[in-house]
Amino acid sequence: MILRPATLDDVALLEYWDTKPHVKWCTGFNPDEPLDPDDQEDWAEEISRTEDWIEILIGEVDGRAIGVVQIIDPAREETHYWGNCAPGQRAIDIWIGEENDLGKGFGTPMMKQAISRSFADPSVANILIDPLQINVAAIRFYRRLGFVDVGPRRFGDDDCLVMELRRAQWEEIES
Ligand SMILES: CC(C)(COP(=O)(O)OP(=O)(O)OC[C@H]1O[C@@H](n2cnc3c(N)ncnc32)[C@H](O)[C@@H]1OP(=O)(O)O)[C@@H](O)C(=O)NCCC(=O)NCCS
Repeated sequence: MILRPATLDDVALLEYWDTKPHVKWCTGFNPDEPLDPDDQEDWAEEISRTEDWIEILIGEVDGRAIGVVQIIDPAREETHYWGNCAPGQRAIDIWIGEENDLGKGFGTPMMKQAISRSFADPSVANILIDPLQINVAAIRFYRRLGFVDVGPRRFGDDDCLVMELRRAQWEEIES
């Protein structure tokens, strides 16, 4: 498993993955409804960004792209999705693209690399995630990685569970 920066060559694949029901769980769209083009992520624009508060990384296994991780600095992210945030944090989103690739052990090393990459910056004290409360499988996945509950929070129409991984907890797990 390697994580590499997304490029414009990945746009078509990312757009295709966005149409998948299990990915809509993650992006907050209703899995039973077709994607509204107005809500659709503009991947070309996102990937072309040069700001240092966002990284879009593709997970590759044997040269095949299998999923994506977005790491943001929630204090500096331009929409302020996370509200007013203290500095020294990161927020991560992750999804596997193909249904057939779910539950095959790809997400765990992807997420571990994203966590290590985030904590490589010594100013980062914790990492936030916000799975939908109904996404119990993802919540179990994050708990296994050491994330703990911060509490429920509503983002727009989405009832989420905010979870965090503190640096000390990660260092203990890794030692
Ligand atoms: C969450 C996710 C990234 C985990 O990656 P993965 O490659 O499936 O995970 P792994 O194979 O490394 O680990 C398996 C664990 O993942 C969790 N998991 C989450 N969603 C799963 C799914 N749809 N199928 C199978 N396992 C899933 C389970 O906890 C499973 O552990 P279990 O054996 O105790 O059930 C991936 O399942 C995914 O993309 N899910 C859909 C999108 C999503 O929910 N993203 C997170 C939003 S916050």
